[in-house]
Amino acid sequence: MGFVIAIDGPAASGKGSMAVRLGKALCLPVLDTGLLYRAVGVAVEQAGGDLDDETQSAAAAARLDLDDLESEAFRTRGAGEAASRVAVHPAVRAALLDAQRRFAAREPGAILDGRDIGTVIVPEAPCKLFVTATPETRARRRHLQLRAQNDPVTFEAILDDIRRRDTRDADRAAAPLRRAEDAALLDTTDLDIDAAFDAALRIVEASRGRWETS
Ligand code: DC
Repeated sequence: MGFVIAIDGPAASGKGSMAVRLGKALCLPVLDTGLLYRAVGVAVEQAGGDLDDETQSAAAAARLDLDDLESEAFRTRGAGEAASRVAVHPAVRAALLDAQRRFAAREPGAILDGRDIGTVIVPEAPCKLFVTATPETRARRRHLQLRAQNDPVTFEAILDDIRRRDTRDADRAAAPLRRAEDAALLDTTDLDIDAAFDAALRIVEASRGRWETS
């Protein structure tokens, strides 16, 4: 295995932008695994299906085109909620497992961000980060982003979304959101994007040093 960085954490914790910046700095490919679940949720909804139906959701996961994850439709609030609902189904998670592991097996390494990367997808990853921040901080960041896109959504509505998703993602039986025992905890509540990135880079460099000498 190459140098794999597993980044997990709750919704809007900043793990996505951190993964992208680390990817540029280290020249490693990045997979935002939330996009896979978002694409499945959107596919089920577009087909008029039921997000709570495991068979329908798993069929959509099996049909997923991994080269077609760029759509803006996957970035909406509704897609995040749909993703969290289909993500509770073990058969959906099983259908997406191989593609994520294949990505992680790339040389000279890869970065994956999600909820279960360090615990289930690549438990042997040489570098694991668990990125978090208070629900209020995460809601404030998401609110600023959406307001910049002229979305009139209120802060309270986003905070509700975030709390609901945190509970669903952490309480599900299949691969729940939790910190791997060997993941470095990075709380970005009091850090801006640059400071959070610098902190992540320090953790990654320390892991890389250990990995290269092991
Ligand atoms: O990271 P995100 O907000 O794009 O993720 C959307 C949802 O997908 C999240 O609420 C739970 C699910 N998800 C998951 O269960 N496992 C992952 N590795 C990534 C996302």
